[in-house]
Amino acid sequence: MNYKKDYSFPEGFLWSAATAAYQFEGAYLEDGKTMSIVDKNINPSFANTSVASDHYHRFKEDVALMKELGLKAYRFSISWPRVLPKGRGEVNQKGLQFYQNLVAELKANGIEPLATIYHFDLPACLQEEYGGWSSRQIIDDFAYFCKVLFEHLGNQVKYWFTINEQSNMFLLPYLMEFDDQIPIEKQKYEMNHIMTLAHAKAITLCREMLPDAKIGPAIGLSPNYPESCRPEDIQAAREADDFRNYLFTDLYVHGRYRENIWRYMKERGITPTIDEGDMELLKSAKPDFLGINYYQSRVVKYASESTIVRDMKVNADGRKGETEFEVVPGVYEGCNNPYLEKTDWDWEIDAIGLRTLLNELNDRYRLPIIITENGMGAVDKLTADGKVHDDYRIDYLAKHLEQCHLAIGDGVQLFGYCPWSFMDLVSTTSGFRKRYGFVYINRTDDNLKDLRRIRKESFYWYQGVIRTNEGVGG
Ligand code: BG6
Repeated sequence: MNYKKDYSFPEGFLWSAATAAYQFEGAYLEDGKTMSIVDKNINPSFANTSVASDHYHRFKEDVALMKELGLKAYRFSISWPRVLPKGRGEVNQKGLQFYQNLVAELKANGIEPLATIYHFDLPACLQEEYGGWSSRQIIDDFAYFCKVLFEHLGNQVKYWFTINEQSNMFLLPYLMEFDDQIPIEKQKYEMNHIMTLAHAKAITLCREMLPDAKIGPAIGLSPNYPESCRPEDIQAAREADDFRNYLFTDLYVHGRYRENIWRYMKERGITPTIDEGDMELLKSAKPDFLGINYYQSRVVKYASESTIVRDMKVNADGRKGETEFEVVPGVYEGCNNPYLEKTDWDWEIDAIGLRTLLNELNDRYRLPIIITENGMGAVDKLTADGKVHDDYRIDYLAKHLEQCHLAIGDGVQLFGYCPWSFMDLVSTTSGFRKRYGFVYINRTDDNLKDLRRIRKESFYWYQGVIRTNEGVGG
């Protein structure tokens, strides 16, 4: 249903933008920082994380640009191996100081810090020592990392995100490391359980140490549409939603496994190990809000048990039509949506899907929601006039904001919006070839140039959105 147009957002809405440490900071082995698993495993055909956008050395200049943009809040992540180079134990004072300085600079400029504790960058030493997320040892190490952050940043940071896109770690192989000897699906469900326990411990600790803070996950979600009205396809879409979305949100909010997924795991002998007290811990750690990373919707159809599983091919170069869809035999397989435009990376552009998703989450959980990521990856061109004319990005964001506005009218308690990304940064799949920012970084994958910051057209557009507090922009 559509309603009369009025684009103003609620008073105090958190107009924000997002980045993540390994994609943005650079200085990946500086001042005591050690390697993370993403530093090691990022696609070698593109820029690595060694310099990235050089934010580590230019954070004051970057915060000044945030201020000029008008941001009310800024979502960033904290690098675990920068703060704890050995994954635990002695705190790296220089690493911690960087985040204390960043937070102080944000506060001095009236920008609310939104801190993500874990955004894919597990210290590589913990992976080597005990297999990272495959071992329960990580729960205590993660809790210790949280404790250090709450102790040293908790007086300034009010909003915390525990784990970024636990859901996507299922889909994207470069975000985790696996043991060749154990079936991969079994490892994934085991890791998922361990990660949810770590998330729950972080919430419990936050409640004890920072009773006034707000904390929740940042989840990557896509609504799944049926390819046809064939009942098998309708059921396949429901199940795809359960597997890729509600498995995680039900665990976070209700502390329970969905029965159909538990049954799927049981029939295949891949249920995670549940120790005494696990489910009680999960139940007791209800988040204050849901953070949602939304980029696209998906279409699925029923897949019989004999459907061949192809390797999920990621379209890294940005050549349309190269993505291979996901297949879960006996449940669903992905397929094309003929009704939607796609980015060069085959990501379907579906602003209405965001409203659908927000309403669904509101119906199920009745929690406040913040959009922690939403944006359009594209090859941006710096033209001869020294400008970047990214009207396609403005169009993408404006359409999504319109749907956010409608969702608020539907009753969704949406309190903030963090487009991905504040500035260009290393795309996880495609380096600097694929850009998302409001600010262009003058570098390519192979040439660091001068790393100059150049405001794109979308920068001025978003500035207008924030100034007027309206989704259509200035
Ligand atoms: C999200 C991640 O999955 O999507 C970000 O939280 C990532 O870290 C973003 O950069 C866009 O993905 P990509 O592969 O285009 O960089």
